[in-house]
Amino acid sequence: MLEIRNVTKTFPGVKALDQVSLSFGDGEIHALLGENGAGKSTLIKVICGMYQPDSGEVLINGERANFKCFSDSIKKGISIVAQEIQAIPNASIAENIMLDKMSNYLKFGVIQWDRLYEETQKYLSMVGLNLSSKTRMLGLSTAQKQLTQIAKALASNASILLLDEPTSALTLKEADNLFTILRKLRDQGKGIIFVSHKLEEVLRLCDRLSVLRDGKYVGTRKCEGLTKQDVVTLMIGRETNEEYMGFLDIQNETVLEGRNICQTDRFENLNFQLHKGEILGFYGLIGSGRTELAKFILGEGDKPGSGEVYVKGKRAKINSMADALNQYRIGYVSENRKEEGLILSQTVANNIVTATWNQICKTAFKIVNPQTEKQIAEEMVRKLDIKTPSLRQLTVNLSGGNQQKVCFAKWIAANCDILIIDEPTIGVDVGAKDSIHKLIWDFAKKEGKSIILISSDMPELIKLSRRILVFREFRIAGEIGGLNDHEFSAAEVTAEIGKYIAE
Ligand SMILES: Nc1ncnc2c1ncn2[C@@H]1O[C@H](COP(=O)(O)OP(=O)(O)OP(=O)(O)O)[C@@H](O)[C@H]1O
Ligand SMILES: [Mg+2]
Repeated sequence: MLEIRNVTKTFPGVKALDQVSLSFGDGEIHALLGENGAGKSTLIKVICGMYQPDSGEVLINGERANFKCFSDSIKKGISIVAQEIQAIPNASIAENIMLDKMSNYLKFGVIQWDRLYEETQKYLSMVGLNLSSKTRMLGLSTAQKQLTQIAKALASNASILLLDEPTSALTLKEADNLFTILRKLRDQGKGIIFVSHKLEEVLRLCDRLSVLRDGKYVGTRKCEGLTKQDVVTLMIGRETNEEYMGFLDIQNETVLEGRNICQTDRFENLNFQLHKGEILGFYGLIGSGRTELAKFILGEGDKPGSGEVYVKGKRAKINSMADALNQYRIGYVSENRKEEGLILSQTVANNIVTATWNQICKTAFKIVNPQTEKQIAEEMVRKLDIKTPSLRQLTVNLSGGNQQKVCFAKWIAANCDILIIDEPTIGVDVGAKDSIHKLIWDFAKKEGKSIILISSDMPELIKLSRRILVFREFRIAGEIGGLNDHEFSAAEVTAEIGKYIAE
């Protein structure tokens, strides 16, 4: 139904797609896999006309369809859920979803808002988003925004659906709900292309998968009977490490403590402690309060509240992220790299040293020494295996997963004592995920740093955390300890967590 023939696409210094030929059927869910920077998003953008290929063609039902622009592809029944969510923050969910269909709601030149809101509401409930369609986009969490994008794609009633990491911010339950919808669409004969780094879900959901490596097509396989390790080998040519990490030397000293934390409509007398050298996991469903708690502690809460924060035993007054970093050596790796984590219009090197400026400046007459900047950036690019043609590349041009690595590199470089890490491996490929896990682990193990790890990736959380707090509706519903001695299997911990979040 959809065929790619010899497509090549280059960017300055990068061949993102190199003579790629590949075909997708109707009535199938076809996964597109590959490491960060392999060319997946570029291929998706070529298909929907956002990028023009240098050479090669896209065929739909045997007909040449080299779209000149995005709207051409919409007319041909293609719909996309993009990796980087773009929304109009001040407009309502309904306006965002129905943006290109507004004319359908005109009657005598007047928009019938009631009908617009009502119909949008249907799509929201389909994707399991419990919000009024009149809500403004502004202030929605990443997961909620992602669900609106999926609702938008459903509303378009397209025959080909392109989904670029649609589940990166979703919990298992929300993802499962999406899969049910996708299977239904497949059974109606639609063609679905699904990009994801979560190999378990790919194997569970998809009929076939195709792999790209360094812009080249590697192969296509039927998913039935494949193991995760088979897929990994196809993607990166080696195996990954998922075993138990070992023992952490956790001290009795409390380095970060929240006492009687209250926030309007959210927390009520919440208490927690983080010990020196510990990795403390925060688990919970989306909207359970993990990120909100982190932000409140860091003086960036969006609602008023009260309570006490202690850093290394002393009462702390943290009014902003800058305070946290400069006065208390606390860093926050945001889940939302686009809005909080990165300056996309700056180079990779600039971004890596942004959190380090104060330190480099001290030793260099208050100006950043370009040599020092280069050194730090080079080290981080190597350590995290960031794929970029040079340190001077603008961050906006990196693939999604590599942007995430830059974001992470910035905080590793800042040399904090306490790191709060929010969803560190969203959108990161399996190989890179391993290296990020190793970095987090070594940060605690070798350098004695203390870490709060917020993650919805259960295996990741269990692998790294030595204690887990389970959040539910802005409360700590349970605590799971004893993980440092490896007393429990991953299955046992998962079951334990399940008990606390059960509805
Ligand atoms: N607009 C652009 N300008 C310059 N380079 C680009 C641009 N878009 C993509 N690239 C480069 O092309 C390559 C492929 O990027 P692409 O975004 O397709 O990767 P991906 O497979 O989607 O990776 P990820 O899993 O990280 O999302 C990368 O090296 C990236 O840096
Ligand atoms: Mg991508």
